[in-house]
Amino acid sequence: MKNRSLVSINDYSKEEILRLLDVAAEFEENTVQPVLTDKVIASLFFEPSTRTRLSFETAINRLGARVIGFSDSSSSSTTKGETLKDTVIMVSNYADLIVMRHPLEGSARYASEQSSVPIVNAGDGANQHPTQTLLDLYSIKKTQGTLENLNIFMVGDLKYGRTVHSLLMAMTHFNPTFYFIAPDELRMPKEYRQLLEKMNIPYYEKTEMDNLNEADILYMTRVQKERFSDLMEYERVKNAYILQNSMLNNTRNNLRILHPLPRVNEIHTDVDANPKAYYFTQAENGVYVRMAIIAMILGIK
Ligand code: CP
Repeated sequence: MKNRSLVSINDYSKEEILRLLDVAAEFEENTVQPVLTDKVIASLFFEPSTRTRLSFETAINRLGARVIGFSDSSSSSTTKGETLKDTVIMVSNYADLIVMRHPLEGSARYASEQSSVPIVNAGDGANQHPTQTLLDLYSIKKTQGTLENLNIFMVGDLKYGRTVHSLLMAMTHFNPTFYFIAPDELRMPKEYRQLLEKMNIPYYEKTEMDNLNEADILYMTRVQKERFSDLMEYERVKNAYILQNSMLNNTRNNLRILHPLPRVNEIHTDVDANPKAYYFTQAENGVYVRMAIIAMILGIK
């Protein structure tokens, strides 16, 4: 992982993923480890973010490094017409590593080809969100005791939801069974279904959120309004699934509800007090996992 960009979850092998989760657990045990006091890390967010940006910046601070960058590209020279290529070349002269979120699919890969320092993809359009996936894996392993042989229910916007795309790819290492619950308009894209078929990994597609008693992980997602070109279509599907506390009766004891957040309506607040709700702790885990990502790419761990 040293000096390598993290653009897609496929950039890491199963062994590298497991090693990274172990390092994240070490950081959770000891959250302040100023091992990167000579490093500068750029945080370039061309799209809004709360969790990803702030947990990365917390991770950077806890590692003793300095952070530069922007949370709103309208304050950068992008507004004057500067290209992504020029921006990345410039910033790679200032920083040892660049964390970047951008609305265009493929932008992180493109940036990694221009940059002289590693790029960490903090989300590129509807494509991938690999650091979210690593914290999702960490959360699954921590709550289930294993990543192997789990029933993973994914609910909501499986078309535009980059977190489910990355998580699906990562889970292929661990013999899962998938249940995809989405309206027809928001089905899991064909390329991901074909990947599972090629790997003989079972999946079931449904439009109803039922049979929750078979789930180990219930991964809820927000319908991604910002990716719709037709807002009428968004209005039709935006409240397709709303998880209520009463729906969790008779579910497995080990069931945990994950959500990359932010949520809108898809998880009723009456679920929050249920011990099976794990989404806020999941977001907290992002700090430890992002500390591990930065430390390992910069060759400290
Ligand atoms: N999970 C996630 O990416 O959240 P933010 O958009 O707030 O970063």
